[in-house]
Amino acid sequence: MKAARSLRAVLPVALTLFTASAQAADQEAKFKPDSKSFMCITDMTKVRHFYIDNLAGNLDRTVRTATTGKGEYPEGTVLQLIPNEVMIKQQKGYSPQTNDWEFYYLDVDKDGSKIVSQGVAEVNNRLGLNCFACHSQAQTGFDFICEQDHGCAPIPITRPMFTALQRSDPRCKDAPSLNEEETAALAELAEVVKTMTGH
Ligand code: HEC
Repeated sequence: MKAARSLRAVLPVALTLFTASAQAADQEAKFKPDSKSFMCITDMTKVRHFYIDNLAGNLDRTVRTATTGKGEYPEGTVLQLIPNEVMIKQQKGYSPQTNDWEFYYLDVDKDGSKIVSQGVAEVNNRLGLNCFACHSQAQTGFDFICEQDHGCAPIPITRPMFTALQRSDPRCKDAPSLNEEETAALAELAEVVKTMTGH
């Protein structure tokens, strides 16, 4: 009985992961950033707590959507909350399943960025967690943007931790030294990551 219950609990998750990894983009991507396309996160345009850009030269529209806080982002949008995770809005029809978002996981150090993985439903972050599985929980109308109140499962990473990650992006020249609160936030984050990954 107990085993049956736990199997029922695990099965939908396993199936979701399977379907997620089975799907690929429908079209070739219009925007093909390489490692040089990514930059120090704080050099991008900041709206509220995250950073944006637009590869199609349409930053005004991306800023408008981000400021409004709902609706669809225009193609070419680059969206980042932390240095090594990026969402890029490809052309209409690229991937209906992800509403045309392409997910990126980067390795960043003082010499720049390296693309570790990119794609749609199959991309995982540094902790081995699937971008699409979390972001697809955002309610309709928010275009896969989670923030704190769009219906995505909450994560144990706080806004001060995100700010500390942004301000310690190793790619930034003249990065400010972290204050005491930010240093504490990063230490706390390291503990949270241990719990999330189980080691
Ligand atoms: C465990 C669930 C989870 C995973 C995995 C995850 N995210 Fe997120 N992500 C979130 C949540 C929740 C937020 C909102 C955090 C906040 O605003 O405090 C967020 C925020 C973001 C944002 C800022 C815009 C927004 O949605 O609020 C971007 C960009 C982003 N994530 C990209 C990625 C990419 C790229 C990956 C994979 C490489 C990824 N995320 C993996 C849950 C996740």
